Amino acid sequence: MSIKILIDSLHSILSQLESELIQVKTKDELEKVKASVVGRNGSLTSLTKELGAIEKSQKPEAGKAFNDVKNKVAELISAKLEEIENSGGKDSRGIDISLPGRSWKYGKKHPIMQTIDDCVAIFRRIGFVVAEGPDIETMYHCFDALNTPKDHPSREKSDTFYFPDGRILRTQTSTVQIRVMESQEPPVRIIAPGPCFRPDTPDATHSANFYQVEGLYIDKNVSLADLKSTLMYFAKEILGENVKIRFRPHFFPFTEPSVEYDFSCVMCGGKGCNVCKYSGWLEISGAGMVDPNVFRNVGYDPEVWSGFAWGMGVERITMIRHRISDIRYFYDNDIRFLNQF
Ligand code: DAH
Repeated sequence: MSIKILIDSLHSILSQLESELIQVKTKDELEKVKASVVGRNGSLTSLTKELGAIEKSQKPEAGKAFNDVKNKVAELISAKLEEIENSGGKDSRGIDISLPGRSWKYGKKHPIMQTIDDCVAIFRRIGFVVAEGPDIETMYHCFDALNTPKDHPSREKSDTFYFPDGRILRTQTSTVQIRVMESQEPPVRIIAPGPCFRPDTPDATHSANFYQVEGLYIDKNVSLADLKSTLMYFAKEILGENVKIRFRPHFFPFTEPSVEYDFSCVMCGGKGCNVCKYSGWLEISGAGMVDPNVFRNVGYDPEVWSGFAWGMGVERITMIRHRISDIRYFYDNDIRFLNQF
């Protein structure tokens, strides 16, 4: 072989290698390309044999050319190896196949919303429909129309969030009773879930924002027995067959008579434990027969129509259902807590 042919061959090996390396993306591919040049049967290795056939006087030149190419080949291969390693194991699409896969995390409803959904489903089965009202309310809808006089403590600054224009963040979902009765003729059968706000200092059972589910049932000849059986039905559906219910006399401006109602303690079955403070009962909220003054305020004739209403704390029910000890867990947004429901 003449030196010219040898040098040409060396150069074509080099340029072939360069163009092949462009396509190389992985270490495996690089190994193959490397073997095809400097492996046992590689193109450069085979050329070594030809060195012997070069004329003696040209040997130094041939040897130098050979070594130059060999060094260049080594350089190109190690540069490519570095490139692959620095690419972080990305494949030809630029995807790093060495990383662990990303699993999908499914969102789910907040436990408060789950309870609201369950309440809605339970009352829907006996013919109630969902009604809504604004969170920012007029004093009229929150108090006056609900027969709550100007000197009532719930209207105090310390009990209610006021806006400069005189509107307020509603303190109770009872406002929705008024909005519904203003907008339709009886009979009425609604529940109104939603947020309420009071300037309470947070502790294990109080929060400045909380949820209620309000209910209102208006028809002819409605009695306290209807109220009790409706709440009884609800209690059994949400807490189980064995739950009992009791009424205690109370006062609310918008109902007469008014009661507070308790469910028997689901932790101890009514025997008494630290959750029910050894009373056997869990306080849920208030209820009563709609006060005739409320009917007059919305233009319903109290001589014709009668009805009952109730409100309940959604957090309270959720805490009982899931045995949660502190209301503040609901608002911390701690995924470890929320994931349990
Ligand atoms: N609004 C009352 C509260 O927030 C709860 C309540 C009591 C609602 C009696 C009613 C009711 O509809 O009739 O404490």
